[in-house]
Amino acid sequence: MILSITGFMGCGKSSVGRKLSQLLCCPFMDLDEMIEAEAGKSIPEIFAEIGERGFRQMELTVLSSVLSVKTEEGTTTILEIISLGGGTIMTKECAQIVRERTLCVYLKASVQTLSEHLEGETQGRPMLKGNVRERITELMAQRADTYENTAHIIIDIDGKSVDEVAENIRDEVERRHRGSA
Ligand code: S3P
Repeated sequence: MILSITGFMGCGKSSVGRKLSQLLCCPFMDLDEMIEAEAGKSIPEIFAEIGERGFRQMELTVLSSVLSVKTEEGTTTILEIISLGGGTIMTKECAQIVRERTLCVYLKASVQTLSEHLEGETQGRPMLKGNVRERITELMAQRADTYENTAHIIIDIDGKSVDEVAENIRDEVERRHRGSA
């Protein structure tokens, strides 16, 4: 089984994914890092060269190939974790494969929490140009429904540490596993 982590930029997908992979003793993958490795370029460089549309196409290509390889390998019992980019599932095909082929966890955060996390962290995030709080509010309004409708599990992260969020996910995964055993 592949567990995917989605949520807005700054919600802690990668940190939580890494922590969870320690708790569950399983491999961790980061989609943004895989795209950068594949392109041999940073995300801002990719955006500068081929724009958001080109980047979204790369996201879809890399994600589909990872998920089909993993599905063929038959990772049905061993857990692997992948943290997605904040906008990955805004591409319909990505949302569909994430929903069908992974157990998707949405790290849900308020605009206040995201603003605090993203303060001084906007470099390297081409989608956050301009006033950060306004941009978060604007993008969240476009994205919130897709996060909620694509995820199988929603975890509220406001006021929680990375460790607490990872433990919440572990508990939920174990609870589901017990339920299905
Ligand atoms: C994006 C989020 C980024 C990265 C790219 C676009 C988005 O990932 O994929 O800059 O559209 O929300 P993080 O959520 O890991 O910052």
